[in-house]
Amino acid sequence: MDDLGQLEQDLLQAIADADTAAALDAVRVAALGKKGSISALMKGMGALSPEERKEKGPLFNQLKNRVESAIESRKTALETAELDAKLAGERVDVTLPARPQSEGRIHPISQTMDEALAIFGEMGFTVAEGPDIEDDFHNFTALNIPPEHPARQMHDTFYLPGERDGGPLVLRTHTSPVQVRTMQVQKPPLRIIAPGRTYRSDSDMTHTPMFHQVEGLVVDKSTHMGHLKGCITEFCRAYFEIADLPLRFRPSFFPFTEPSAEVDIGCSRKDGGLKIGSGGDWLEILGCGMVHPKVLDSCGIDSHVYQGFAFGVGVERIAMLKYGIPDLRTFFEADLRWLHHYGFAALDIPSLVGGLSR
Ligand code: PHE
Repeated sequence: MDDLGQLEQDLLQAIADADTAAALDAVRVAALGKKGSISALMKGMGALSPEERKEKGPLFNQLKNRVESAIESRKTALETAELDAKLAGERVDVTLPARPQSEGRIHPISQTMDEALAIFGEMGFTVAEGPDIEDDFHNFTALNIPPEHPARQMHDTFYLPGERDGGPLVLRTHTSPVQVRTMQVQKPPLRIIAPGRTYRSDSDMTHTPMFHQVEGLVVDKSTHMGHLKGCITEFCRAYFEIADLPLRFRPSFFPFTEPSAEVDIGCSRKDGGLKIGSGGDWLEILGCGMVHPKVLDSCGIDSHVYQGFAFGVGVERIAMLKYGIPDLRTFFEADLRWLHHYGFAALDIPSLVGGLSR
């Protein structure tokens, strides 16, 4: 065997023997690197005669190509072996305990809304909605609050630029405009509740500029105050989960209801603590009344044929009372620790019949 043949055999053997990427690279450098054996042959060509160069040149090149491709295929083989070894070593351990999932919580407002919707849903109410940006007509005028009426001052209204139908645009100060919108497009009998955001320019421990209400409206030919009392009583007892919760209907005033009432629930206040359900004290929780005939007429419903009742409940207020949350502002601070403490797991909705099914 000539020198060239011997060199090739040695190199191919070294390539085959290389069992790591590093060893293979060392062989590559020894053959094809700057000072490698094949590189030396190539460099030596300059010193050969033209005839010898013609004869040896192709031989050197073929040798170089064969060595290069042997290195390449050995490299692929080593990589495949390495991957196989890794796959064989890495097994999924199905006996490991699952990592704890961080679970979200339901905000007390959503929870309270869901509870109210579930209770009224069982009484046959359907949900109606309206826009947060209202016009003067729906928020005030149609509700028997004409311009210059003192009740407008009581509402601490946020006015917006622009106007509609000759009146200003406002952020709705209550959910009562949804009553108007419903009566404008639906014919009685009506039985709706309208949950949603409301806005008043006010901020302290018990007021925030944005808060939530659930409005209720029932209109039919013979709807009377007894129905109102029964409906509200049933709702309060189901919501607070106290079957004999004492209730008091106290005469009050709203421009859009006549007669109007505020509803108080029985409670006791001892040592700074508040307990709902019994004791000689009372706590106001909602406003209600028989829909004023003028409101029915403004909405295209004949007040000589139909009558109805309406009520409006503050969602945060009844949430604070039921769940013992002392400061209203904390509802909207988006503090995850607060939410973790006061929030709810999913599917914790009480019903009229069962109460909370925990
Ligand atoms: N809209 C009234 C308020 O925000 C509540 C209410 C609604 C009263 C419906 C009577 C009837 O204070």
